[in-house]
Amino acid sequence: MGLPSSLKSHLLLLFVCFLNVSTISTKPLREEAVFFGGKFPALYVIGDSLIDPGNNNYLLTLIKANFPPYGSNFEGGKATGRFSDGKTIADYIAIYYGFPLVPAYMGLPGKQKNNILTSINFASASCGIFSDTGKRVGRCLSMNVQIDLFNETIEDNLKKNFTTQPELGKHLAESLFMIGIGVNDYASSLTRIQPIRMTSLTGFFTSS
Ligand SMILES: *[C@@H]1O[C@H](CO)[C@@H](O)[C@H](O)[C@H]1NC(C)=O
Ligand SMILES: *[C@@H]1O[C@H](CO)[C@@H](O)[C@H](O)[C@H]1NC(C)=O
Repeated sequence: MGLPSSLKSHLLLLFVCFLNVSTISTKPLREEAVFFGGKFPALYVIGDSLIDPGNNNYLLTLIKANFPPYGSNFEGGKATGRFSDGKTIADYIAIYYGFPLVPAYMGLPGKQKNNILTSINFASASCGIFSDTGKRVGRCLSMNVQIDLFNETIEDNLKKNFTTQPELGKHLAESLFMIGIGVNDYASSLTRIQPIRMTSLTGFFTSS
C-alpha cells in the first residue's frame, strides 16, 4: 500500500524480529541446557537481518540499521547495526549459553577476523540462500559467502589453534551453530512476481 516493495519485505522482517525477541527469556531452562548438551566451546552464526549484529554496516547497501531508534534499548542505547531496538535472538542465545555477545565478522579488525576461537557472526541483512536475493538494494553476504568466510576462518586461523586435525574437528563438532536465513528468499520472490522461483526454492530444500 504505497510502500516500495523492498521496504515492505524489510518491515516484515522487523515485525518477525520483534515477535521473536519479545517471547524469549534470558533465564536458562535447566531441561533445555541438558537437551542441548549444556556447554559449547563456540557459537557460530549464519543468517539475515533477524540476527545481523552489524555486518551490513561495513557493506555498500541501503539496508543498514546504524541509526536511531535502532539500538535505543540496547546496552549503551546506541545503534549497532542490529535490526532491533534491543538484542537479537542470537544475542539471547549467546547470553543463555554464557558467551559474550557474538561479534560481527565484518567489524573485526584484520587479523582478529580469522582469529576468533570462541564465536563469530556472519549474518547479513537483506541476503538469503539464493545468491541474488537482496542484491537489488546493495551488497550483502549470501549464505554461500557466509559459509566461505567461515571456511576461511577455519583454514587460515582456527587450524593454528589446534595441534591436530581431530582436535579441530572436535571443537567444530561440539560448537553450536545457529542458522537463521531464508525469509528474504521468499520475500523477494513474492514481491517480484516470479512464481517459478517458489518452486525452485522448494526444490532446493527437498534436494538438499
Ligand atoms: C575451504 O578452504 C580450503 C582452502 O582454501 C579449500 O581447499 C576448500 O575447498 C574449502 N572448502 C569449502 C567447502 O569451500
Ligand atoms: C589462536 O591462534 C592465533 C594464531 O596462532 C593466536 O594469535 C591466538 O592467540 C590463538 N587464540 C587462542 C584463544 O588460543
